[in-house]
Amino acid sequence: MTQPIDLTALPRDFTWGVATSAYQIEGAVAEDGRSPSIWDTFCRIPGKIDNGDTGDVACDHYRRWPEDIALMRELGVGSYRFSVAWPRVVPGGDGAVNRRGLDFYSRLVDALLEAGITPNVTLYHWDLPQNLQERGGWPARETAERFAAYAAIVAGALGDRVRQWATLNEPLCSAWIGHLEGTMAPGLTDVTAAVRASYHLLLGHGLAVQAVRAAAPGARIGIVNNLSTVEPASGSDADAAAARRMDGHTNRWWLDPVHGRGFPADMREVYGVDLPERPGDLAAIAEPLDWLGLNYYFPALIADDPGGPPPFARQIRRPGAPRTGMDWEVDPGGLETLLMRLTDEYGARRIYVTENGSAYPDTVASDGTVHDPERTRYLEEHLSACARAARRGAPLAGYYAWSLLDNFEWAYGYDKRFGLVHVDYATQRRTIKTSGRRYAAIIRDHRLHARATPAPPAERLGAL
Ligand code: FCB
Repeated sequence: MTQPIDLTALPRDFTWGVATSAYQIEGAVAEDGRSPSIWDTFCRIPGKIDNGDTGDVACDHYRRWPEDIALMRELGVGSYRFSVAWPRVVPGGDGAVNRRGLDFYSRLVDALLEAGITPNVTLYHWDLPQNLQERGGWPARETAERFAAYAAIVAGALGDRVRQWATLNEPLCSAWIGHLEGTMAPGLTDVTAAVRASYHLLLGHGLAVQAVRAAAPGARIGIVNNLSTVEPASGSDADAAAARRMDGHTNRWWLDPVHGRGFPADMREVYGVDLPERPGDLAAIAEPLDWLGLNYYFPALIADDPGGPPPFARQIRRPGAPRTGMDWEVDPGGLETLLMRLTDEYGARRIYVTENGSAYPDTVASDGTVHDPERTRYLEEHLSACARAARRGAPLAGYYAWSLLDNFEWAYGYDKRFGLVHVDYATQRRTIKTSGRRYAAIIRDHRLHARATPAPPAERLGAL
């Protein structure tokens, strides 16, 4: 059963997209001069990835991309958010450019444009060249500088055709999960390394913004953060303080510096690690952006956890709340809240939901179809939340469903399926799920509505 949803508040030129990332779909990890990334290394550490899965083959998108573009056309999406793999383009981390790696993305961009699909390129979705990890990784300042040099190379090669750029995807995961919790690459559990990584990720972001703008005038550039609504688990002062710390850790640490407010003082104290600051860094980090990307998956209910790692706060299960196959709580209202927060508290002028989606254990029916009512409902409810925020004045310009395809879900391997399109990994056969068909219908309806509605006197959002 599909639910009627009112999306009339979304702008007429709303961008309807799907998202993926390089390591999760491409495979071909040793092809055409690509060097190993920290994820290739991490996947080989026993016990780190469910079932011992790796991204070696993934969705074989490196070879099957024409078919994947055809799927996007079938869905009717207007934009595709994908990431460029640094180790394909600059296999040494810095220095020589690998033309064959760059050509892959160049061909992809050409084919997307030919299909009428706008490319939205993320420069870093977690696949740091392993040789840079060995030279210090994100805790080292040089990595930020090398990232900017790599960004200039990609923007120089694709910037004549790509306008929409993002620097980092979810630096929170790179820094906190990769260096503090240790369940993502590079797998460290060291608060000093984590805080230094967070600093250099944001510095790298700022330097990359400058580099992309210099290499590709006219680029529209933003950053993609995953944010959560945060609530205390009880009325106690300790839980309230823990929720405040978790908000700092998850949201403010990433938003404040980019908005020229510096790194939150309360969180500096919580981490107790000196930042490797140099004059000029904060200005670079706060380079004005054309848009903000919001990845939204779940809310956080937080209790005090004095014995845990910083920020000394832990997530509590909300009793009876609906959950996805990731065990993530479903709360569409959180998306509306975060869109309003970016609008009201941070003065955002253009926001994209750059990822949102759900994993459920799909089954392929005997007739070959994949019926996924829970994912369909998740999609509808979150789109409704987007429309509510737009009605309340959020400058929301687009939505990218995570994900086009089932893919390599990091430490969870291939078991967790987020795709609007099912992938049979044994045959690489793709099948559009019911949720994908529903998304296509929603896009079609919105376009029809937009065409039938006269332009308001002053459209809130300028053209892309
Ligand atoms: C986000 C990541 C993306 C995907 C989704 C489910 O945190 O950006 O790569 O794994 O979660």
